[in-house]
Parts: sequence; structure tokens; C-alpha cells
Amino acid sequence: MKLFLDTGDVEEVKKAAEWGVIDGVTTNPTLIAKSGKGFRETVLKICELVPGGAISAEVVATDYDTMLKEALEIASWHDQIVVKVPLIEPGVRLVSTLTERGIRTNVTLVFTVTQAMLAAKAGATFISNFVGRVDDISGDGMEAVAATVEMVESYGFESEVLVASVRHPQHVVQALAVRAHIATMPFGVIQQLFKHPLTDSGLKRFLDDWNKAGLSIFEGAGVA
Ligand code: G3P
Repeated sequence: MKLFLDTGDVEEVKKAAEWGVIDGVTTNPTLIAKSGKGFRETVLKICELVPGGAISAEVVATDYDTMLKEALEIASWHDQIVVKVPLIEPGVRLVSTLTERGIRTNVTLVFTVTQAMLAAKAGATFISNFVGRVDDISGDGMEAVAATVEMVESYGFESEVLVASVRHPQHVVQALAVRAHIATMPFGVIQQLFKHPLTDSGLKRFLDDWNKAGLSIFEGAGVA
């Protein structure tokens, strides 16, 4: 499964990129607004920090003509950019157009397998299926993800299913279980993935024993 960072914060991207496990970054208008920086400069900086990664940047118009203009502008900034488009009627039309022109798309705000089917048929590169927002209202967000992965695989669509609105590591466990292609998550959730109390106590014991014995990796180094 590919791992994307969901953020508009360049400092977070910088830190996560150093781990070498980030395949891309997703942004949305809320995250970009929160960053306090310009859209283009932020997205270009993220492209630079994650070379070769897929970087999603979203259109904000809701009528087809303006959405198309915005999409072409955003796509012209960098070849790593994937144009993020909401699942509304002009959005699906836009995805069909961009697909014909060879521009990659990430269809966002997808909550059902039938919405996902429309995105897949339009040629979406990624289908962003939101889970946290469904769980927030007592639903099971992962149900639609499972159905969408099954639909994409069994019908042979080329779209990749991207689990979005991830709130905690259990969502990542579930995304792996349903064989989602990608999960995007906030920096804090990726940090949580590292954590296990037995890792911490185990490491402490190894280091205490090592230090008590007065050992050194470099002992004798450089001696012929
Ligand atoms: O970028 C889309 C998505 O991941 C948003 O998450 O936490 O605002 O529901 P959230």
C-alpha cells in the first residue's frame, strides 16, 4: 500500500520525506488555507521535497468551465501534480476531459461505491474515499472502501483506491485489510504508526545492557 501524507504544511512534508516511506502528498483547500502560504508556492515546494511523488492539488470552482481552467493551470505547475476534483456532476465531466488529455486526477469527497464507480468510469487516477467523516456520524467509512476496492479489482478499472480522512492507526490497519492501494493521513497519524511500548522497552533494555558492558561499535576501528 502506498503511503501519502495529508497536509499543506511544508515542514511536516520535509520531516516525513526524510523517513523515505512517503509516496505522495494530498492537500485540500482547508489544509492549504491553514498553511498560511500561497497555493502554488506550497504545492511546488512539496513537489521538490517528495521527488517523483504524486502531489494532489484541488480545484475550487464548481462550474465546469472554471474548473477546467483551474485544473489546466494547476497541472501546468509541475508534472508530479495530480488534479484533485470533487465528485459532483461537473467534476466527473472534468475528470473525463482531463483523462482524455493525459492529466492525472484524484476524485475527492467520495463516500459510496456508486460515486466511486462514476469516478472510475471517468478515468480517475485516484479515488479518495473518506472514512473518518463517515465514522464521525456513526457510520462505517471502511465499508465503502472495501466495496470500492472489490469493484475496481473485479471490473479491471485502472483507478487506485485512496483511503482518506484517516484519523488513527486502526484506519490504516483496516485499509491494509481491505487491500486499499493508498492511504493518506495527517503527520501525527504517521508518527503514531511507529509507536509500540514493547519497542520502547525493548530498545531501552538492549541499550542498558550494552552500556553496562562498556562496549563500543567503533572499538578497534581504524586499527590495521
Ligand atoms: O484530504 C482529504 C481528507 O483526508 C480530509 O480529512 O480529516 O478533514 O476528514 P478530514
